[in-house]
Amino acid sequence: MQAPWWRQAVLYQLYPLSFTDANDDGYGDLRGILERLDYLSWLGVGAVWLSPIYASPMVDWGYDVSDFERIDPIFGDLPTFDKLLKAVHDRGMKLLLDFVPNHTSIEHAWFKASRSSKTNPKRDWYIWADPKPDGSPPNNWLSRFGGSAWELDAKTKQYYMHSYLPEQADLNWRNPEVRAAMLSVMRFWLDRGVDGFRTDAVYSLIKDEQLRDNPPNPNYKPGDDPSEAFLRLHSAGQSELFHVLNTFCDVLATHQDRFLVSEPPLYLSLPGLEQLYDACTTHPLHMPFNFNLMTLPWHATRFRDFIDQYESILGQDDLPNYVLGNHDQSRVASRLGEHKARLMALMQMTLRGMPVVYYGDELGLQDAVVPKSQQKDPWGERVPRHHHDRDVARSPMPWKAGRYAGFSRHKPWQPLARNAESANVETEQAHAGSLLNLYRRLIALRGQSPALLDGVYASYPHTSESIFAYTRTSDQQQFLIVLNFSDHPARFKPSHELKRLIVGTHARSGAETLSGEYAPHEGRVYLVSGEEAIL
Ligand code: NOJ
Repeated sequence: MQAPWWRQAVLYQLYPLSFTDANDDGYGDLRGILERLDYLSWLGVGAVWLSPIYASPMVDWGYDVSDFERIDPIFGDLPTFDKLLKAVHDRGMKLLLDFVPNHTSIEHAWFKASRSSKTNPKRDWYIWADPKPDGSPPNNWLSRFGGSAWELDAKTKQYYMHSYLPEQADLNWRNPEVRAAMLSVMRFWLDRGVDGFRTDAVYSLIKDEQLRDNPPNPNYKPGDDPSEAFLRLHSAGQSELFHVLNTFCDVLATHQDRFLVSEPPLYLSLPGLEQLYDACTTHPLHMPFNFNLMTLPWHATRFRDFIDQYESILGQDDLPNYVLGNHDQSRVASRLGEHKARLMALMQMTLRGMPVVYYGDELGLQDAVVPKSQQKDPWGERVPRHHHDRDVARSPMPWKAGRYAGFSRHKPWQPLARNAESANVETEQAHAGSLLNLYRRLIALRGQSPALLDGVYASYPHTSESIFAYTRTSDQQQFLIVLNFSDHPARFKPSHELKRLIVGTHARSGAETLSGEYAPHEGRVYLVSGEEAIL
């Protein structure tokens, strides 16, 4: 039996507002994406995840949905979406949508009905509570985006809860009608042919029924982000959320070949990830994102230990994955710098499971400089001192050098990345040693190598502080991957006999290819046995 597509695909996250603007209004759109699909095929992408494209007032740039079954006019319409989906499928790729179950926009018809009166049948679709006797919010829960998690509704004199912005009211997932309505949203898109979903903020789905206060965060220090002052013991992470997740998987399992990715909190520990993997009992079709590489201290041993432990918690059908960046974080090339970003690309494509690539990271795109006056991210507005500026990683995809980088003929909604003039598709395609060509080579290698796709991972016994090395082994092939994490040259002599160097972060020729000398942040993939191309 052929392995399901998600065991082979590289997942590419595309932020639709910033990919390509086909109608020249400064915002990316579906037609723009359609026009760029050949690029994604060229790169070797197996599946595309679109951040939200639904009707939205765009307060949180689409994560505030006002109609889950309509495309926002900024992106296009349903017929264009159907065309896009078909074109993706025609190229042998898959399409995942962003499913945002925790909250709706306050402009959603459900919320409008809910807030209209205390007796409205939809009142209980959201989380409403009376003020305390002094008029203050019902408890001490804090929004992740700053301030109280409660907003007073002047008309009905109750507070509604919002884990994020006041414009994003949390749905009451304890209400069976809400569950039914949201599962039907999933079916709407699955019936249209989408291949699955990335599911937003799953940890927030269920809250303590008694709305108990959260305890203070013992690690909180004055000057830290104020929204972290209390542990989210009662306002998130309740065990019932795993049952809800399982109902999502049940819906997916009624359609063939569909896949679910869930978004855990950034700092979720490995036991937490394990629980999320175990949540879906129906089918091995669910995978929580693994964000750990974005926060691990830069050290070969820390990376090796983490990956060994992660591998050890996974069940046979659990698919590992490695995320280097997304629309909520500073760009990987800015966080780590160009050389380390190359090393991470090589590591990500040679580890087991699904690599997740955020659009533009394949170019080594850096953060944009976004002046305060042009800031679009509401989080930054609400918590100015901590300046959670996510705009920096949402810059227009640079297709070529020049004024608007081939993204649009109109001034784009976000400024270009600071290195867009050199880190763009046209320039990098023409340069053999570019990060883009390295990505493409690695993706192709991964796709044709049983050992890299599904072979066993084994880390190399610890040899030095600088080197992280591992083998990937299948019946027909073995590779050895060597990564120098250090800022200094390092030596590494494996006990394996090496057949040849297949790909590396640095150009090497002749005797250099088998030398045990590694430049700072150099990574190499060696074939140990078997042939390079097997599939
Ligand atoms: C997580 C998303 O990645 C982020 O962009 C969004 O603001 C929040 N969830 C709320 O939906």
